[in-house]
Amino acid sequence: MPDPERTADLTDLDLYRDGFPHAVFTTLRRDEPVRWQPFPTGFPGEHDPGFWVLSRYEDIQAANRDPELFSAHDGPQLSHQPGIAGSMLVSMDGPDHSRLRRLISAGFTPRMVRALDEQARAWAGAIVDRALEHGRLDFVSEIAYQLPMNMIADIVGIPIADREHVFSVTNQFLLASDSSSGTPPADPGAAQAEMFAYAHELGVAKRAHPSDDVWTLLCTVAVEADDGTTTTLNELELDLFFMLLTVAGSETTRNAISIGLMTLLEHPDQLARMRSEPATMRDAVEEILRWSSPVGYFARRATRDTEIRGVPIAAGDRVTLWYPSGNRDEEVFDDPFRFDITRSPNLHLAFGGGGPHYCLGANLARREITILFEELFARVRHIEQTGPPVYSALTIENPILVALTSLPVELS
Ligand code: HEM
Repeated sequence: MPDPERTADLTDLDLYRDGFPHAVFTTLRRDEPVRWQPFPTGFPGEHDPGFWVLSRYEDIQAANRDPELFSAHDGPQLSHQPGIAGSMLVSMDGPDHSRLRRLISAGFTPRMVRALDEQARAWAGAIVDRALEHGRLDFVSEIAYQLPMNMIADIVGIPIADREHVFSVTNQFLLASDSSSGTPPADPGAAQAEMFAYAHELGVAKRAHPSDDVWTLLCTVAVEADDGTTTTLNELELDLFFMLLTVAGSETTRNAISIGLMTLLEHPDQLARMRSEPATMRDAVEEILRWSSPVGYFARRATRDTEIRGVPIAAGDRVTLWYPSGNRDEEVFDDPFRFDITRSPNLHLAFGGGGPHYCLGANLARREITILFEELFARVRHIEQTGPPVYSALTIENPILVALTSLPVELS
């Protein structure tokens, strides 16, 4: 009898309906750490014939840190998106990537993020206070969603009045292909066009009235080309950047916060300790990040023939790095399926493996998660889960892959 976990088809969304399929990846790490996954015949969309799946920490980290061998040029997703290749921070290599990254990094230094602390605390307090008026609520939409959305909007400079609209379009774009939602799939192209149109309008407004935010910086900044001449970012680069910031900055942190709370409710001893010993907060946030690992995989492309663990990989092959699997690797983490808020060291891969694309928002995300739990604990004595969580399995072509979309709770 073939082992169903050993032979699981990773492109089958049913695998992800109840969250990340850790049992399958535990088997892969043990039996086939470098596995070729073909796309089934007739699989919709434009993509390669298949992709390599790296499930062990060491291999993921090594590939992540070797951008010459594993290029990011075609983007982190598995679908072919020629418009994105080489045009977005996540889909650039070498000096082009470093230049753009340096430029945008100015908005995300630890100093800048600390300066945003006060703002994050004010948002978190107001969000929890408003939620408390309801008592029973959906933690994902009414709390976990709100803080990252408003923080990234503050940083980018999206006016308050536009936020619900911009983020509902982002959500439509992400959920457009969520076949578990029960509603007919929306058109991701239409949502993307709307996002781009908004980014354009915002650019016009910022150029006319510059302010101290990332969008003003990006719309007006001079970028130096290889020949020493300077240009500004073009419309497409700006549009794609807007999409990257709004998606990367909100969806991931929301998942970390909501999976974090759900896991703490499943481990009341750890929740009690986190509340009563504020010194545990720092390690607790790292464990929440390791445990939740909100990004399923990032894809790269091999630039020349190579081998991993003796398995030949051909130049041009798609190679995917499965961060949640690396974060449960028994060779690196002692008892990896134990949720332990005091785990140390905890060198998880939730933000990537330390290569040139390491998450630009890591400091911000850590502060948001910390502040949200601090403000929640300060205001709420009792939290109870009142119903089952609901996950959305996005398409396999979307690196986020699985999102927790609802967590009913009662706060008092
Ligand atoms: C818990 C929350 C988050 C998680 C788990 C997460 C995870 C990741 C991962 C895995 C990568 C790819 C790293 C690599 O390939 O080496 C990445 C890249 C990136 N993240 Fe995050 N992220 C989070 C929050 C944020 C936030 C709040 C922002 C804010 C803007 C952000 C912006 C970015 C950007 C711009 C990149 C691309 C960097 C590059 O290509 O150079 N992320 N993130």
